[in-house]
Amino acid sequence: MAKEEFDLKKFVPLEEARKTFAKVFDKSTISALHRLSTKRYFKVVEYVISTGKEAHVFHAVDGAGNSRAVKVYKTGTSDFNRMNMYIDGEPRFEKVKKNKRSLVFAWTRKEFKNLLLMQKAGIACPMPVAFHENVLVMEFIGEKGKAFPPLKEKPAKDVKKAYAQAVEMLARLLFKAELVYGDFSEYNILNQKEKLILIDAGQAVLTSHPNAEEFFERDLENVARYFSKQGLEKGRQQVKEDVKALKGKV
Ligand SMILES: Nc1ncnc2c1ncn2[C@@H]1O[C@H](COP(=O)(O)OP(=O)(O)OP(=O)(O)O)[C@@H](O)[C@H]1O
Ligand SMILES: [Mg+2]
Repeated sequence: MAKEEFDLKKFVPLEEARKTFAKVFDKSTISALHRLSTKRYFKVVEYVISTGKEAHVFHAVDGAGNSRAVKVYKTGTSDFNRMNMYIDGEPRFEKVKKNKRSLVFAWTRKEFKNLLLMQKAGIACPMPVAFHENVLVMEFIGEKGKAFPPLKEKPAKDVKKAYAQAVEMLARLLFKAELVYGDFSEYNILNQKEKLILIDAGQAVLTSHPNAEEFFERDLENVARYFSKQGLEKGRQQVKEDVKALKGKV
């Protein structure tokens, strides 16, 4: 083979890819992934599903061939002020140090715990499998290796039914899990053939959090805005009443 074929400097995209790879997979993240895989929570990380501001999500498989979603929070470039807003004042995370790494690790643990509480409350969401440092392993919500699309990309055909599911989610969060989700939107709800699945639970806080009320009102506003756009004409107060009407019934 000719010598120039080995000149890496000519392959700029490869170099770019290497930089991106190094940003996500720093040494400590690689060892966190390694630890989770030696514990057999997954076997192979196969491909990237989503690259977000705060996290990358990958498709992985375990030894039995089950699909897994592996969410890797970035330790370098996340929005720490935002994270802190949902951790400061959280009774479950009082002892967390305020440095970047500790916050991201606490955030990962928080998402795991929230998903568990949501599962127990009967909310459709990914079953959490394991976490370590900034890596969370969970059930993969999709088919044939492809994640189900968020409502933002694929609105429900039956809007009334979707609204009823969203309201039931909010009621189960509030009355059963004692959580306020805090970022309820068409981006964080996957549409599994008309069944809504709530993902991305890192920011959810206990109802005893000092800002829980404010976060709850914002979630109601988001639901009202989204479903009004879909033609249902709901106001925030109406959504609130619909949620409260389910008290004792979920
Ligand atoms: N359990 C899962 N199964 C399948 N796909 C998933 C799962 N979790 C996340 N995804 C995919 O990754 C995308 C982003 O996920 P998510 O909303 O949790 O992360 P994010 O918004 O990037 O995170 P953050 O808002 O914390 O930065 C989803 O829209 C979906 O395509
Ligand atoms: Mg999200």
